[in-house]
Amino acid sequence: MPRHRRPATVLAATLLASLVALGGCSSGNDQTAATAQAQTAEVSGAPLIPRPVSLQLGEGRYTVDNATGIHAQGEAAGHVAAQFIELLGRTTPLQLKTTNGAAGISFRLVEAAEGASPEAYVLDIGNDGISIEAGDERGLFYGAMSLWQLLAGQQAGAVSLPAMHVEDAPRFGWRGLMLDSARHFWSVEQVKSMIDAMAVHKLNTFHWHLTDDQGWRIEIKRYPKLTEIGGCRVPQGDAGRKADGSPNLYCGHYTQEQIRDVVAYAAARHITIVPEIDVPGHAQAAVAAYPEHGVVDGPTEPSHNWGVNPYLFNPREETLQFLEGILTEVIDLFPGAYIHIGGDEAVKYQWQASPQVQAHIRALGLKDEEAMQSYMLKRLDRFLEAHDRRLIGWDEIIEGGLPPQATVMSWRGTEGGIEAATHGHDVVMTPGHTLYLDFLQTDLPDEPPGRPKFTPMQKIHAFDPVPEQLTPEQRKHVLGVQANVWTEHMRLFERVQHNVFPRMAALAEIAWSPVEGKDYDEFLTRLPAQLQRYKALGIPYAQTALSVAMQRRDDRANGTVTAELSNPMGYADIRYTTDGSAPTAQSPAYDGPLTLPVPATLKAAAFFDGRPLADAASSWTLDAASLLSRNDKTLAQCPQGGRLLLRLEDDNPLDGPRENFDVSIFNPCWLWENAQLQDVASIHVRAGRLPYNFGLLREEEARRGFRKPVAAHGEFEVRDGCEGPVLASVPLPEAPGTDGFIELDAPLHAPANDVANLCMTFSGDTRPQMWVLKQVTLQ
Ligand code: ACM
Repeated sequence: MPRHRRPATVLAATLLASLVALGGCSSGNDQTAATAQAQTAEVSGAPLIPRPVSLQLGEGRYTVDNATGIHAQGEAAGHVAAQFIELLGRTTPLQLKTTNGAAGISFRLVEAAEGASPEAYVLDIGNDGISIEAGDERGLFYGAMSLWQLLAGQQAGAVSLPAMHVEDAPRFGWRGLMLDSARHFWSVEQVKSMIDAMAVHKLNTFHWHLTDDQGWRIEIKRYPKLTEIGGCRVPQGDAGRKADGSPNLYCGHYTQEQIRDVVAYAAARHITIVPEIDVPGHAQAAVAAYPEHGVVDGPTEPSHNWGVNPYLFNPREETLQFLEGILTEVIDLFPGAYIHIGGDEAVKYQWQASPQVQAHIRALGLKDEEAMQSYMLKRLDRFLEAHDRRLIGWDEIIEGGLPPQATVMSWRGTEGGIEAATHGHDVVMTPGHTLYLDFLQTDLPDEPPGRPKFTPMQKIHAFDPVPEQLTPEQRKHVLGVQANVWTEHMRLFERVQHNVFPRMAALAEIAWSPVEGKDYDEFLTRLPAQLQRYKALGIPYAQTALSVAMQRRDDRANGTVTAELSNPMGYADIRYTTDGSAPTAQSPAYDGPLTLPVPATLKAAAFFDGRPLADAASSWTLDAASLLSRNDKTLAQCPQGGRLLLRLEDDNPLDGPRENFDVSIFNPCWLWENAQLQDVASIHVRAGRLPYNFGLLREEEARRGFRKPVAAHGEFEVRDGCEGPVLASVPLPEAPGTDGFIELDAPLHAPANDVANLCMTFSGDTRPQMWVLKQVTLQ
């Protein structure tokens, strides 16, 4: 640990505190007492994210304003000071300058203690100034990020900070975020904004998913067709055709010049980029560009299907040389130690069906297709080793035998990581069930498209990347942790930001902070300050997680709704109104289910420290009509719907807002449990239509169910229970109206007791489209 100064003495601190209270100036400027006091924002506590290793609040305060000079000793410190000044200037009213005279803030490289992390720093705030010391520029940078955090939540010309002494260093050396630029393409500016956000969270590894079935996004000069052909796809469904019927291409790739620019931008923020070239599967875009490096004859095109597609690279020698040619350019572009070779979800049907591949497997004396994959990866591992790089791959690379130097990225849970660490391999933990950010963060209806089996903040915060069953020696192989942003269902960058923030705050804590002292409720006390920083950075973080969720129980007979309120992240102070006004900190506190006679307007907001967390209150209109209506978000999914529940977006209109639908794609079926049907004569349905674009291979044939149609285009059917008698049925038209929707009415034959579990399906196989329920109303 670097040497540090002690916090200010109690005497001086007391004196200064009273000066501030009297409106005195604290950092030597000549503003009048009155204006200084009027403008000074007081920070209480030290709400840093990630939580530092040790933090002691001292007595006294120090105020930073535009007269606060910055002193940096040496080149590295000068560099960090300049970054600090730029970031602070861009995100707050504080426009600071360096000075050669007496400085309020000093950055200094010091002799690091033996064995200290180069990312460690010490931050001291005392009555006479602020100092950041570290043994390496990286540590100074993280110290600067901590100080920026303390200042940036306040949009004030003067910020008074409490005295404190912070000693800090990361738990893990791999603190990662993966961004998928293949499924949807993100501009250089958007990628840089994500890198900026990673830096202020003290994350240091950006895994860039650059190739997949749906797009090849990195220019390779010796193989230009990879981006010319592999960089464009025709989307499935309406979005794939322009008004004149011509293909509406979705294209994008990064030039090598752009990649060098992003690599340098990240490096300046102490972030290493790990590029991913996925081998041997997820290769459809590459095979479309160079069919000779695929397995089956004939050209294909980059996929418009999400999921798992069958196209594999050929394992023959010529293709290995092709891949080495690609890697040669990748190595030249990315100076980091690791190159990610994918290895995931390479379903081997094409290799199994190919006499040429089968002959090759036999000629090499290999056991099977898994061994063939392992052979390929070992060859690429040797190539990377020879170029002083290390191979990392998804946990499937364990199957068939790991290359000796390989690092494993454990995504199918932590089991792959445990197995690899047990055998002495390094691992990065990124289990899908906890760290895939395409899983929605709340179960609220206004979450954007994605996977609705949700992953709340608590779950990420609770995750420990080091499994208990590993021995102390094996634990050393856990390099760290990473969250992954797969973007099949994120068409817009604001949706990427919505899904990443504020969950990145929990990622930062499990990647950086010591596991000792971890306390979710305490984390929640620091998070509101982080939200202010997101505002300062212009990050549109998810409001959903900060809003109020409402579970309702309807009682049609008595004309009441019972509402249960909660905040998805666990903030407990919920205030509500029923008179239409916006809730304030003085509104009634929610302390249990509310039974309201309809009609009622319920508004609620979650508060912390007397301030609302979300930008707007949550609001519900509970009227008689709402007792008779349900939509895809408020209906349950039938039990046989299977695990693949998705929130999918309509692909029309091409511009402007689109509707989205919750649907279990293996067996689309919506359930209204215990529907009260007294006096109900018919059911009205509003439905839309989505492209059916899932690469599910043979799993689809095994699990996808289509009920046999009677009418030419099938029918919308309502049963009592999913295998029960038909209560309503109405034929479907061939296509929806110009707005993309259909509206149908069907007489409903209620059972004798007037209560039913309404199970709603569309019969018939309409692929490559499918009908999806939007709303049903009993009438
Ligand atoms: C993966 O999610 N296929 C790594």
